[in-house]
Amino acid sequence: MHIPVLTIDGPSGAGKGTVSRIVAKKLGWNYLDSGSIYRSLAIALLQKDIDLANVKEIVATAQAMDLAFQCDDELIVKLNGVDITAQLGTEATGNVASIVAAIPEVRQVLLQKQKDFKALPGLVADGRDMGTVVFPDADFKVYLTASAAKRAERRYKQLMEKGIDVNIRQITREIEERDCRDKGRLTAPLAQADDALFIDSSALTIEAVIVQVLSLVPQHLAM
Ligand code: C5P
Repeated sequence: MHIPVLTIDGPSGAGKGTVSRIVAKKLGWNYLDSGSIYRSLAIALLQKDIDLANVKEIVATAQAMDLAFQCDDELIVKLNGVDITAQLGTEATGNVASIVAAIPEVRQVLLQKQKDFKALPGLVADGRDMGTVVFPDADFKVYLTASAAKRAERRYKQLMEKGIDVNIRQITREIEERDCRDKGRLTAPLAQADDALFIDSSALTIEAVIVQVLSLVPQHLAM
């Protein structure tokens, strides 16, 4: 039986996470937040204080990870039985995730963990290489982006609301560095699939983006 897949790729801060979660809920489909898999690996590495130049240890840690996801309104992630949700969103976790995501062997180990999310009645997959590498045959593809300044502003507001005191210049610099790493790596770089719908969310509300994304999916496929 055919399992429909909708991929949403793009840089961090474009609104992918929020849009993907709401779209998955509206369609009644499963949801893959692939960034959280790379982030979970980052947490495992930080916990064990592993040298980020030690590829062998990083790959072994990726292989040994036991991850459990639960998605209601919020995504809850357990690493080896322990809830790590609170640490997933930190800048330190995101930066380490982006560094180790550039290692081809790491991507290879995490590939199957991502493909396993494909299940009936359908899947919304959010990441950097969902439409290009992990699900190249996806039925519907979106590339969602926004200007670096707009993405930094959103991230800044998000962190301030959480009571985390940050500097907007530093956030902008980190976003630009991460974009550069994600787009410049040799394996599965962040790129728009040829058959993806391009959406720039800089001047759009989340609701407007959701309308555009949902317009791709025929109504009879929604649960
Ligand atoms: O999307 P998120 O910010 O959670 O992803 C964290 C990091 O994980 C990204 O900066 C990127 O380097 C990496 N990632 C990736 N491929 C994906 C998802 C995330 O390389 N499909």
